[in-house]
Amino acid sequence: MADPGAREHAPQRAVAGRPARFDFTGRTALVTGAAGGIGGAIAAGLAASGATVWSLDRDDTVRAAADRIGGHTIVGDVRDPGLPEAALSRIGDVDLLVLAAGVQVRTTGSGITEDDWQRLADVNLSGPYRMIRAAVPHLRRRGGGSVLAVSSMSADRAVAGIVPYGATKAALSHLIRGLAVELGEHRIRLNGIAPGYVLTAMTGSLLADEERAARIRERIPLGRPADPEEMVGPSLFLLSDAAAYVTGQILAVDGGYALS
Ligand SMILES: NC(=O)c1ccc[n+]([C@@H]2O[C@H](COP(=O)([O-])OP(=O)(O)OC[C@H]3O[C@@H](n4cnc5c(N)ncnc54)[C@H](O)[C@@H]3O)[C@@H](O)[C@H]2O)c1
Repeated sequence: MADPGAREHAPQRAVAGRPARFDFTGRTALVTGAAGGIGGAIAAGLAASGATVWSLDRDDTVRAAADRIGGHTIVGDVRDPGLPEAALSRIGDVDLLVLAAGVQVRTTGSGITEDDWQRLADVNLSGPYRMIRAAVPHLRRRGGGSVLAVSSMSADRAVAGIVPYGATKAALSHLIRGLAVELGEHRIRLNGIAPGYVLTAMTGSLLADEERAARIRERIPLGRPADPEEMVGPSLFLLSDAAAYVTGQILAVDGGYALS
């Protein structure tokens, strides 16, 4: 049942003969990891499509990124259990939540240190989980809303050298699917994207190694890694009313890598 008090910007169904609008005017978005390549690109895409955007990151450069897109900033660490409530009490209600903050540790699965394991689990899994949990009452007050998590192709594929990272992303994807089942009745949709290789700080040193980069390119059907901007269209689609009947899906945005 729809929640009483749902506001005018509640998600809309498509109207017959007219495609649902790919437009975020009047919507408020919180984007974590917004100082980074993918989070920053999605935040900019949302702002350009009419949303009021709050950019969150632990990296102070998020202030400049938010200024460039005409939005607001929250500097904070998603490992802090108090951050979601503190952030949401500043923002008020949100309609859209994008979970892009993440870290990667390149190491063997059996050789990872306790500290690195804890950091991966805290940032990539507990951070998004706490943020969603805190946002649910806000999304319900808005009559529903949409969550997008940035998972990874390594969630479903065993990639040597990033197995613990992949395990946190597999758990994140599972969380998205499971919460989509539980929260559908409140008109809250949760989806994810699973990027392959994207040219950001996270992959900088890996893709700077020309030999490795060539091997990676060979395995990607589209023949190249992605620019962060190429994550924006699929993300905005999943967040928008154009995807009003899509929930619990993790969309591969990987140039076909998962098929190869
Ligand atoms: N680049 C890729 O090829 C690729 C592929 C698949 C998935 N991803 C995922 O995409 C997301 C974005 O990564 P990116 O490629 O843009 O890398 P990035 O390093 O450019 O961005 C990650 C951002 O997360 C922020 N962050 C990290 N720890 C944080 C914390 N504790 N609190 C708050 N912010 C924190 C960083 O400061 C950074 O701005 C990540 O979740 C990553 O796992 C990236």
